[in-house]
Amino acid sequence: MSTAKKEFKKVTTHVLQEMKRSGEKIAMLTAYDYTMAKILDHAGLDVLLVGDSASNVMAGHITTLPITLDQMIYHASSVVRGVDRALIVVDLPFGTYQGNSKEALNSAIKIMKESGAHAVKLEGGKEVKESVERILTAGIPVMGHLGLTPQSIYKFGTYTVRAKEEEEAARLLEDAHTLQKAGCFALVLEKIPAKLAGEVAKELLIPVIGIGAGSDVDGQVLVTHDMLGMTHEFSPRFLRRYLNLYESMGGAFQQYVKDVKRKDFPNQNEQY
Ligand code: KIV
Repeated sequence: MSTAKKEFKKVTTHVLQEMKRSGEKIAMLTAYDYTMAKILDHAGLDVLLVGDSASNVMAGHITTLPITLDQMIYHASSVVRGVDRALIVVDLPFGTYQGNSKEALNSAIKIMKESGAHAVKLEGGKEVKESVERILTAGIPVMGHLGLTPQSIYKFGTYTVRAKEEEEAARLLEDAHTLQKAGCFALVLEKIPAKLAGEVAKELLIPVIGIGAGSDVDGQVLVTHDMLGMTHEFSPRFLRRYLNLYESMGGAFQQYVKDVKRKDFPNQNEQY
């Protein structure tokens, strides 16, 4: 058997920019652990986001606010160990960058040093400009995030579509340009009108990756557990479920319980 490793080109921030230029769409999903990261990487995902949605998905919190920097680093380092090809981006969690740009830089450095990830993401527009610039001085690539920014959920009050009104749309467009100018290598747009997202993607030179932002952007991201149908409590319009793992995993677990109770498992071939 050949031991030669399959040839692949590692995804870098430059590769993503080249993909935008050539019109190849960027496929991004979230990852929080080694096993899932390995499956995602082998499946050809370009970017894995260690999202602070881990706060909801992995820890059961109702918002992204409680997750800590050390918890994000734990998730990120697990993902790093499972990945050969994809670019790994890690969310700076709530409360670790909003104070000032020095705090933002220190948090970003801690993530990069302790997890081995490739880039960080933070939420916000002109209010984080200085932090983006300062993080970049340490050579750390930064991804922006505008539109519905879950770390500000208590300011918004709901998870509904953002920037539907002209004034907020204009502000978002301006913030997108500010982030590009500050040096962000890419931008996530969450839950905004498709037309506005298309305009942003057309005006910016950096890749724009949407979640609930329509098809006229440079790539798509979803929360992996949602697209696999492991979660089932909500069904936003933008979410395409590729499997119904909630049902099929539940069925497998029920079968296991049955097999153990009726002494069918383990059978003669499943023991020593
Ligand atoms: O934390 C996360 O999963 C995210 C995506 C929804 C973009 O930020």
